Amino acid sequence: MKILVTGGLGFIGSHTVVELLQKNYEVVIIDNLSNSSISVLEGITSITQKSPQFYKLDLKDKLELSEFFEEHQDLDGIIHFAASKAVGESVEKPLMYYENNINTLVLVLQEMRRKELSNFIFSSSCTVYGQADELPITEEAPVKKAESPYGNTKQIGEEIIQEYAKVNSEFSGISLRYFNPIGAHKSTQIGELPIGVPQNLIPFITQTAAGERKELSVFGDDYPTQDGTAIRDYIHVVDLAKAHIVALERLIQKKNKKNYEVFNLGTGKGNSVLEVIHAFEKVTQQKLPYKIVDRREGDIIAAYADTTKANNDLGWKAELGIEEALKSAWEWQLKQD
Ligand SMILES: NC(=O)c1ccc[n+]([C@@H]2O[C@H](COP(=O)([O-])OP(=O)(O)OC[C@H]3O[C@@H](n4cnc5c(N)ncnc54)[C@H](O)[C@@H]3O)[C@@H](O)[C@H]2O)c1
Repeated sequence: MKILVTGGLGFIGSHTVVELLQKNYEVVIIDNLSNSSISVLEGITSITQKSPQFYKLDLKDKLELSEFFEEHQDLDGIIHFAASKAVGESVEKPLMYYENNINTLVLVLQEMRRKELSNFIFSSSCTVYGQADELPITEEAPVKKAESPYGNTKQIGEEIIQEYAKVNSEFSGISLRYFNPIGAHKSTQIGELPIGVPQNLIPFITQTAAGERKELSVFGDDYPTQDGTAIRDYIHVVDLAKAHIVALERLIQKKNKKNYEVFNLGTGKGNSVLEVIHAFEKVTQQKLPYKIVDRREGDIIAAYADTTKANNDLGWKAELGIEEALKSAWEWQLKQD
């Protein structure tokens, strides 16, 4: 079975490629290295002792993409990770985000149509729910108006796939709504490689503990939560990667109930920022300098997944806990120094 992974050298993509190779799938990666490094390929090979095919290709390049699909007409599935993902940057450069996240999705789907390929997995996000009215968040929760162009690209992306699936019964797609992926592979050969100042909590924590940043800013301690800090559902990236294989096999084995489905991927448990800090200090024995600052605009109070549908329908459950994830993130950080 041959699987195309777009964005396969990125954070989640690289962990998914490892899981695919370990399950003996043939993997072809497309990545333009806009937010990743070619060294990730060595990490993947060193873990799996296998070398996936790699195409340094920009999905925006319609001609090159067409040539790629001409060469690979025998794909059994496509996992589409490639996208730009920095929320703040998307506010500054909305058109770049719509071009890179929406145009490329349309181009990939057009190529799939041309070659009559099915089995498509899309990286969506819990950001589509905004601040949900009820917690935990089920897949039935309404999609709220996006807070950023980035969030909007995920909503529009889902709609495009849904509308395409409606009129193409041969096509099967799944959108996976990730909660907050963290951690690294236990081998420390691959992990998260943020370029510039990290926007996410965990890389900021590990870089602060490593002395690269002076202190961590905790945005707001006056939220209506048990300790006043914001709550998220942190999921180990290896658990997340495994969910992609389960979703892909659901499509390949035609076990899907509809030709377009949506699943939440989270642990079902919410942790506050202060809980994460304390868990990090406990598992790493590192003291983390932090200060409380004002709330950050656009941040929601709390989000964690109802995992019933993923557990029962998809047949997947997160296995690793937050402490394991934080430990792996720290070990990965130590390897970067
Ligand atoms: N990390 C998160 O917190 C999170 C949460 C929810 C959803 N997602 C989504 O999951 C996907 C993967 O996220 P990630 O954290 O691994 O991001 P990442 O930036 O580490 O990986 C994305 C990869 O895609 C590549 N890429 C981007 N544009 C491309 C293009 N035009 N052509 C070819 N390659 C291109 C980048 O070089 C990078 O290697 C993204 O779609 C992201 O929006 C991520």
